[in-house]
Amino acid sequence: MNELHSAEAVRVWDPFVRIFHWSLVICVLVNYFVIDDGETIHQWLGYTASALIVARIIWGFVGSQYARFSDFFPTPTRLRQHVHNLLTHQQDDYPGHNPVGALMMFALMALVLAMGVTGFMQTLDAFWGEEWLLELHEVLASLLILGAGFHALAAIIMSYLERTNLIKAMWTGVKVRSRLKPSG
Ligand code: HEM
Ligand code: HEM
Repeated sequence: MNELHSAEAVRVWDPFVRIFHWSLVICVLVNYFVIDDGETIHQWLGYTASALIVARIIWGFVGSQYARFSDFFPTPTRLRQHVHNLLTHQQDDYPGHNPVGALMMFALMALVLAMGVTGFMQTLDAFWGEEWLLELHEVLASLLILGAGFHALAAIIMSYLERTNLIKAMWTGVKVRSRLKPSG
């Protein structure tokens, strides 16, 4: 029989990553659910979201250990190993992002940038009255919210599988993982 025993704490997310994440969530959710009129506040929140992504890309090269892209870039080998570990119920050792989570992270970041670009284009005279642009902006926004929903659900499921509260860790910066120890 196994018992949940010791816990291991690793400081993973630096303050930049945490502030980046929750500021991004606020900008995206407010722009989608609260202020979707395309006026000044919507535009500024959208540009702030895009600026956060640009800053995060820079941080991916110069930031702390687990914030760097080199730590979690989803190479085919890493993806295969992670899926294999999941299927065989082995705990894999990614203090930072796992490779599948990293794929979603890049997709969400690309969608936020695309929101900034299609939003900006709507403000240009050259595209005045172009219905397709608003439709594209809308479709991308829906994909972003859908993707973020999956991402949040995956974070909850992985928290159970890894016995680590990943959401709390994105707030405190520290991942606390319970270890299974054989009893007796
Ligand atoms: C609009 C909504 C969201 C977007 C665009 C988004 C985007 C991201 C991005 C880009 C990262 C990578 C962080 C980094 O390394 O800088 C991330 C990580 C993370 N997000 Fe979100 N997120 C969203 C909503 C949420 C929500 C609602 C939750 C919680 C329920 C959540 C939980 C997490 C967690 C736990 C991680 C770290 C995963 C890990 O431990 O590897 N996110 N998110
Ligand atoms: C996080 C990024 C963004 C999200 C999630 C977002 C989301 C949305 C949504 C859901 C709509 C409503 C579509 C509809 O009613 O059919 C909308 C409309 C619009 N957005 Fe954005 N947006 C973002 C960024 C931006 C940016 C950066 C700009 C411009 C600088 C912008 C400009 C507009 C404009 C002009 C409209 C049209 C409003 C109208 O004519 O009804 N958006 N956006």
